[in-house]
Amino acid sequence: MKYYIKTFGCQMNFNDSERLKGILQSMGYEPAESWEHADIILINTCTIREKPDQKVYSHLGEYKKIKEKNPGAIIGVCGCLAQRMGEELVQKAPVIDIMFSSFNMHHLPELIQQAQAGYKAIAILENPPEDEDKLWEYATVRDNQFCAYVTVMKGCDKNCTYCVVPKTRGRQRSRSLESILSEVKSLVLDGVREIHLLGQNVTAWGQDLGIPFEELLYRVAEIPGVERIRFTTGHPKDLTEGIAKAMGEIPQVCEHIHLPVQAGSTRILKLMDRGYTKEEYLQKIDMLRHYIKGITFSTDIIVGFPTETEEDFEDTLDILEKVKFEQVFSFKYSPRPDTPAYSMEGQIPDEIKSQRMSRLLELQKRILSEIAKSYEGTEQEVLIESYEDGKLTGRTRTNRWATLKGDSSLLGKLVKVKVLNSKPFNMECEVLRVIG
Ligand code: 5AD
Ligand code: SF4
Repeated sequence: MKYYIKTFGCQMNFNDSERLKGILQSMGYEPAESWEHADIILINTCTIREKPDQKVYSHLGEYKKIKEKNPGAIIGVCGCLAQRMGEELVQKAPVIDIMFSSFNMHHLPELIQQAQAGYKAIAILENPPEDEDKLWEYATVRDNQFCAYVTVMKGCDKNCTYCVVPKTRGRQRSRSLESILSEVKSLVLDGVREIHLLGQNVTAWGQDLGIPFEELLYRVAEIPGVERIRFTTGHPKDLTEGIAKAMGEIPQVCEHIHLPVQAGSTRILKLMDRGYTKEEYLQKIDMLRHYIKGITFSTDIIVGFPTETEEDFEDTLDILEKVKFEQVFSFKYSPRPDTPAYSMEGQIPDEIKSQRMSRLLELQKRILSEIAKSYEGTEQEVLIESYEDGKLTGRTRTNRWATLKGDSSLLGKLVKVKVLNSKPFNMECEVLRVIG
């Protein structure tokens, strides 16, 4: 029996799919080369904006052909769109046999049994079930041998007015320290060298356990074999001085942070209910620069939030100029049903959103080419993640992609490199020496 999983959305969703693969493999399923060869197809969905919603419908349209060849094949939909839409989704797409969400992924074996017995197994729960932690008993199945994601918390307690996540993933639940450390230990035994802690709002980890997030960083760093630590996504409001200090102190924590600002204008930030002003965000950036030498930043930006004026938008451009992010993920505001911003007055026409977006991209292009140039001639540490045709690829501690010539014996190694030629999204480097 074979499985195929198609994943949309964020890193959390990708990590959920890695866990779903683990569950399926524990049941004896093997990966299929393509969906046409699968006995079970799962679509792990995203609903953060309107676009990902639409992609799911078009994929379902294609995947349903599997039933002509293999009538017993099961089609499942999980993730955030499933949680948001519930039964309505099955009515729109009756081809769905199984439906669940991030709340009850660990119930997949029972759901498959029900579907095999000829029932529709639609299991969308209002709240996470009590036995939710059973999920951690399953290992993940990963493509990347050396860098692994570890989900440390689920849900989000923030109430950003544009965002569906609190609805699709529920209230914030921190995974226990014990459970996280035990997964990290087994990953290291499996050859993993870089641990990427994941949560919708990871800097709030531990608030419900009475432990500060930095404690988690220290404890993960104590595990022998953990060479690098990253975490995503931080929220500026929860980014304390304690966290910044720990990041500076712990040698394995990489000099990079993804810190979504969303908008530059304090007025818009207030409407978004982000809980900080433009100045406070910039202060956090200064604090991080103070404690962590050479730290780089990436961010998320929403353009065209309701009532955004030209002046508000210029504040966003100003933040880009001031911080000089190495990566900016920018999105046109997309109204999501059942969120406060959906019904706000002053929705911005798509044409203006698009114009602002191109101006933002233009500015970021210029900033990034300056940043890229500044890497030339510098020495960087790279963890080699992949090898193909004499070319090795990896990331610097500051989260830039580097390629270098070499053989596959360097796979999984930390190497010191010199940057020869640096382009916006990649740097050609040469190996100076192998660190370990
Ligand atoms: N419209 C546009 N972008 C959004 N994001 C979240 N909700 C919306 C929305 N309704 C963006 C935010 C978030 C990223 C994951 O997606 O920038 O940080
Ligand atoms: Fe998409 Fe948000 Fe769900 Fe991630 S948490 S899959 S970004 S809706």
